[in-house]
Amino acid sequence: MLENNSLKRDGFSSKLGILATTAGSAIGLGNIWKFPYITGTYGGSAFIIVYLLCILLIGLPIMLSEFILGRSSQKNCVGAFKKLAPKTPWFMGGWLSILTTFIIAGFYGIIAGWSLNYIFFSLVGKLNVSKTVDFESVFSQFISNPWQPVLAQIIIMALAGFILISGIKNGIEKYSRILMPLLLIIIILIVIRSLTLDGAEKGLDFLLKPDFSKLNLAAIISALGHAFFSLSLGMGVIMTYGSYIGKENNLMKTTLQVTITDTLIALLAGLAIFPAVFAFNIEPTSGPGLVFITLPNVFSNMPLGNIFEILFFILLTIAALTSLISVLEVIVSFLHEELKWSRKKSTLITIISTTTFGAILSQGNGVLSNFNIPFIVEGKSVNMNIFDWFITLSDQLLPLGGLIVAVFIGWILKDKVTKNECSSNGLYKTPYYSVFKFLIKYITPLLIIFIFLSNIFGLFK
Ligand code: TRP
Repeated sequence: MLENNSLKRDGFSSKLGILATTAGSAIGLGNIWKFPYITGTYGGSAFIIVYLLCILLIGLPIMLSEFILGRSSQKNCVGAFKKLAPKTPWFMGGWLSILTTFIIAGFYGIIAGWSLNYIFFSLVGKLNVSKTVDFESVFSQFISNPWQPVLAQIIIMALAGFILISGIKNGIEKYSRILMPLLLIIIILIVIRSLTLDGAEKGLDFLLKPDFSKLNLAAIISALGHAFFSLSLGMGVIMTYGSYIGKENNLMKTTLQVTITDTLIALLAGLAIFPAVFAFNIEPTSGPGLVFITLPNVFSNMPLGNIFEILFFILLTIAALTSLISVLEVIVSFLHEELKWSRKKSTLITIISTTTFGAILSQGNGVLSNFNIPFIVEGKSVNMNIFDWFITLSDQLLPLGGLIVAVFIGWILKDKVTKNECSSNGLYKTPYYSVFKFLIKYITPLLIIFIFLSNIFGLFK
């Protein structure tokens, strides 16, 4: 009977599909606009070593824990806690995930829309190479426009909705299996172009040359926080995807594959971006400024720059779209399973509500830019517009979600359940199980508390 029930639930159909979809979630804006830059500023390969350590101590254990929660319960992020710890308040951890995903879906949709719009801008020559264009004012005029970013957001959200409505096998998995290889091909093309430019070595030096003197505590905290964000941890995404993974799959191996893929793509992004930036003697930046202002400037200097520009924004849009889908799926699966709405209704309601929320946030960059709310960052109260305020809030909520998962797996869920999931009921050997259990019980939660507190109080800046 049980077998029958789990057969009926939609899920992934292949190992490659699991990897493409989960890596699709992990590989996003974080890989492209954040990782390369923090690596460059905090000492290149010296920082990469620290980042890999953070992945080992936090990333892998939390990702595996989320997979375990999802697959053992075969439920969405709220249902999972209800099933594994009935009649306890743990399900509120699931509610926290819904809240965080709602916020992230709002602003991620807007940024994905910016990226889509920039494909269009490059196609029509708005970032045109031959004229001297002030890329900064193009960007600020665009994002402060009340309707243009929202229009692009609506298109990308509709696309996400179209993919989500078809479910897992025939929707998310099917499209990830097309989009992720495409992403890989595009990034490799750009890496080749970038590395073959005159003066590319300076960018390589910036990215990779080890400089241990730059490795301060702030660098370590950045690495910890980024490991979380980049691997899509702490808000039920991996948990939800885990619930679609068949029992015959090796969760420990999948965790390792996803993490390695995510890290490799982040490094490739660095190799695509910095050699080109330095070849044209442009100052590197991070975040939206890097991709929407600095890079158009780089492309405008480069032979065949317009083609690479179009390719780059297609790459960025794919990366953002597959991450956006994963965030939305958390809400869709919750509505579908807990409220018993059809998949179609759940998707429509999710898309409409998050798009509306995002469209309001977008006004924070324009019409509402003078409306500021204070937030405590690094111990200081900082005034922010609503767009930035909610992004900052979500940054704080992720480690909290991760902490709940770590404590639940480390201290609450029966060891037998955890072990059975890791070994797929004895199908696989689990030589590292005790290391995992030790990390998730003691080390991971302590490190998360450390990030959390230092983010708020700015202990080590
Ligand atoms: N990992 C994605 C990135 O690197 C962003 C993302 C998607 C995310 N889903 C998430 C971050 C869930 C935290 C939690 O851009």
